[in-house]
Amino acid sequence: MQPYAHPSDHIQLHDLLFVPLFSEAKVRERVRELGATLSQQYHNKTPLFISILSGAFVFASDLMRDFDGNCEVGFVKLSSYTGTQSSGRVQTVMGLEKDLKDRHLIVVEDIVDTGRTLHFFLDHLRSQGPASICTVTFLRKPEALAFPVQVDHAGFDIENRFVVGYGLDYEGLGRNLPGVYQLIE
Ligand code: IMP
Ligand code: MG
Repeated sequence: MQPYAHPSDHIQLHDLLFVPLFSEAKVRERVRELGATLSQQYHNKTPLFISILSGAFVFASDLMRDFDGNCEVGFVKLSSYTGTQSSGRVQTVMGLEKDLKDRHLIVVEDIVDTGRTLHFFLDHLRSQGPASICTVTFLRKPEALAFPVQVDHAGFDIENRFVVGYGLDYEGLGRNLPGVYQLIE
């Protein structure tokens, strides 16, 4: 399909059109603030960032570099989405190969929608005996929340609309957009 030509700030991914929600500058500013907050929170500790793939890899990469101090990173792949709707199931597609016992964990999510992914994953982490768990999500949709999840830091709260960019995709596309775009309905 040919890219949609205009208006110039619209983006077409597959069959859907998106409009800008947060600019690259606004995203970078907010992520720096979150990095500074975590740097204070984990002063003299060596936290393990756990990035939930695929969506959170962009956010985690910036957040780590905005973290002032020693830290490690690990990746886990969970999956619950197909297209623009949650499939209702959470699968672990790839696990962590690290010992989490007595570690300070910072779980990094791209977006908390229903909260199902995080709820499921936090249960799993708690059973591994970490010293502490903190959750950081780039975006959060408060209206969509259906599971009781602890979110310690959220970049932005947004409406219950489908978004792409900064790691978030629609059927594989849009992850490389440096800002965030919202679906036109
Ligand atoms: P939850 O388990 O319902 O909270 O959904 C979390 C996962 O669904 C996220 O990690 C995303 O991969 C995906 N997701 C939820 N909302 C969106 C969206 O608006 N755009 C792209 N992916 C989304
Ligand atoms: Mg996704």
